[in-house]
Amino acid sequence: MKSSSAKDKRKVLKNKNILLGVTGGAAAYKAVDLTRRLKEEGATVTVIMTDASKNFITPLSLEIASGNRVYSDLFDTPMSHITFPAAADLMVIAPATANIIGKFARGIADDLLSTCLLSFRGKVVIAPAMNWRMYENPIFQKNLQYLISHGVVQVGPEKGSLACGEEGIGRMADVNEIIEAIKSALSNKDLLKERIIVTAGPTREYIDPVRFISNRSSGKMGYAIARAALRRGSEVTLISGPCSLMPPRGLKLVTVETADDMRNAVLQHLPEATVVIMAAAVGDFTPQTKEQTKIEKSDELTMRLKKSPDILSEIGSMRNRPLLIGFAAETGNRLDRARKKLIEKGADIIVFNDVTSAGSGFDVDTNKITIIERDRETALPLMTKEEAAEAILDRVSDLRA
Ligand SMILES: Cc1cc2nc3c(=O)[nH]c(=O)nc-3n(C[C@H](O)[C@H](O)[C@H](O)COP(=O)(O)O)c2cc1C
Repeated sequence: MKSSSAKDKRKVLKNKNILLGVTGGAAAYKAVDLTRRLKEEGATVTVIMTDASKNFITPLSLEIASGNRVYSDLFDTPMSHITFPAAADLMVIAPATANIIGKFARGIADDLLSTCLLSFRGKVVIAPAMNWRMYENPIFQKNLQYLISHGVVQVGPEKGSLACGEEGIGRMADVNEIIEAIKSALSNKDLLKERIIVTAGPTREYIDPVRFISNRSSGKMGYAIARAALRRGSEVTLISGPCSLMPPRGLKLVTVETADDMRNAVLQHLPEATVVIMAAAVGDFTPQTKEQTKIEKSDELTMRLKKSPDILSEIGSMRNRPLLIGFAAETGNRLDRARKKLIEKGADIIVFNDVTSAGSGFDVDTNKITIIERDRETALPLMTKEEAAEAILDRVSDLRA
């Protein structure tokens, strides 16, 4: 296995050797996208195809996607059934047929992929995909449960329309979910004891029943933190304002609209939390009065706004509070304001970012943050929001240790 540098530790898939098994199911074509995505995230992908899978997809497509030779013959490269697994950090089978699951559960090794599965000592992720009758067959289920009881990680399948034209359970999990399962299997579970509340997205402050004041927050930073916390073993409650992101599976999602809703939801879940990470852009102002009917169109409208609830300082002033992390999104390099916020709000950490700096801030996948604490400051370079999330959780892990 390759070792990672401290910086690459935040890129879960960077320099990881993934052995991808592709088996003979209708979803085999999705393995191309999976391979490409794993490579984009810095992994080296070696693909092993079963003979049956070549009826669904050509080895060439996977060779192009992986940039590597594709293997399937046990006797073509002698000892590959031992050397490939020995060099791999993780094995993933996507799609995984009923056949490979049955063979693996019974210890059958009659081709390169099934033999590699038996000689591999690391984590195995399987993404079953098949007709619902096959999936619900009790013999198949017994095999699947047997593998799970031996630590194999199952991702999917989903309910939906199947390749055969029927509806039911059996669609291979979405590629994003398979990637997330792989990352989780490769992540250090250093937050196993934590129960983390993460807030994300914007809030809406209603003017009348159809109009509201909101902000440009996309929710990406908060969702990235929630995903990373889940991977690292934490229980996560994600309290999210309106946004279009897919919440990860395995967390408790609470959806809210207004700053008041957000406050109520945070306070309701606070007693169980060990850490609160407030990445939501909670509106600072709300209309003093909300009209019950739509305000009529006119040439001019004057509106009075009042301060919205300040959830961060409310928690910051509590005596027995969890570890508290807030965000300071500023326009310009206003580290001074973020430092002031840390003290005034009584938080343990303020994560500063300049939303006007290139690649940082709203609706982009990258961020340039400074982690501000009372006795230390860590200025990080521009990185993906996922890496920034890992960096924040590294501090949480250190402080909670
Ligand atoms: C058109 C077609 C589609 C198939 N789709 C699936 C499938 O989605 N899942 C599955 O478990 N088997 C499926 N099968 C059956 C497998 O291809 C068969 O069990 C094969 O032996 C699997 O071999 P492998 O596990 O070595 O790839 C399909 C077969 C055909 C002919």
